[in-house]
Amino acid sequence: MKVLVTGGTGYIGSHTVVELLNLGHDVVIVDNLYNSQLDVLDKILKISNSKDLKFYEADCKDYEKLDEIFKLEKFDSIIHFAGYKAVGESVLKPLMYYDNNLNTTITLARLAEKYQIKNFIFSSSATVYGEQQSPLNENLELKTTSNPYGETKKMSERILSDFSKNNKDMHITLLRYFNPIGAHESGLIGEKPQGTPNNLMPYVTQVAKGIREKLFVFGNDYDTVDGTGVRDYIHVVDLAKGHIAALLNAHKGLNFYNLGSGIGTSVLELIQTFEKVNEIKVPFEIVDRRPGDLATVYADASKAKKELRWETKKTLEDMVKDSWFFEKNL
Ligand code: NAD
Ligand code: UD1
Repeated sequence: MKVLVTGGTGYIGSHTVVELLNLGHDVVIVDNLYNSQLDVLDKILKISNSKDLKFYEADCKDYEKLDEIFKLEKFDSIIHFAGYKAVGESVLKPLMYYDNNLNTTITLARLAEKYQIKNFIFSSSATVYGEQQSPLNENLELKTTSNPYGETKKMSERILSDFSKNNKDMHITLLRYFNPIGAHESGLIGEKPQGTPNNLMPYVTQVAKGIREKLFVFGNDYDTVDGTGVRDYIHVVDLAKGHIAALLNAHKGLNFYNLGSGIGTSVLELIQTFEKVNEIKVPFEIVDRRPGDLATVYADASKAKKELRWETKKTLEDMVKDSWFFEKNL
């Protein structure tokens, strides 16, 4: 099938494009390179041993430009990754986040309707659940999130839910990611944050590499196994495969799934695993909690397993190994 991947040169998008090409699908990427670089394309081709990958540099808010692309390409499916994702920045620049994350989704939905595209997959986040008891399952009511980024995901879900009521034959799938980490095992593609990383894993790899002196662990007084925050880490390659499963098992109407492992890991457990697997020290200091952080967040992953026939395969050991291999190659 012919798949439009918006944000396809980004972290999760690039890994998903590799999996699509591996299965012989035609892929067209649209990305404005706001948070990614063109050299990713060659790396994707190398990993997947393919020759065909079309790329358009375009802003997904630009209806006219995208309309031309849709007219020309005749897509069967859309996987929509394009968006901004930095929580802290969204607090400082809320309008920029609402504008980009909502208007890209609205533009793509308008074009999906105009060209009667069968499948539409959207990148949502576990953040839409707000503060609730884990394991988080898809039947829970969504709660207020602590930042504009989280609200853009909740609003996008609502927009696509309303849209689906008027487009009943379309397969619209919302995927709520837990904490993606890791990189492709080739070490060629992975996550390259600009400036100081906000998320745990890229910070850990930069400390291990000596780019930063130590990791700051945000709080050790949570009600968890060792007092540090617990999250559901998912290898980005497993996550990419989750999109393929969602594409192949999509059904009519609006459907939503958690993509997580169902396993909670604390910050200290992650550091210890990283040190053991990679045989390298990660100096750290315990500091105050980060505002807006929750103690424990992990998925009930059973719905995706049952309906999409997908579950995570890679372990925490795989995740820390691949993250480190990618960082070392940078
Ligand atoms: P990323 O920043 O690596 O990739 C996003 C890509 O979208 C980038 O290449 C960027 O240049 C592009 N982009 C942004 N705005 C655009 C626009 N207006 N037009 C065209 N291209 C645009 O991010 P990622 O980690 O790969 O995340 C992909 C999606 O998954 C995002 O929507 C993100 O919010 C969501 N998500 C990510 C995480 C995570 O932890 N990485 C968790 C939950 C949800
Ligand atoms: C954050 C975002 C969430 C987003 C997700 C993935 C917030 C409040 N939430 O989630 O919306 O979907 O990233 O992009 O920002 N930690 C440290 N030191 C660090 C960094 C993190 O101790 O330098 C701890 C955190 O307190 C947390 C865990 O590590 O317990 C994971 O943090 P992080 O990688 O930022 O992800 P989330 O907070 O789950």
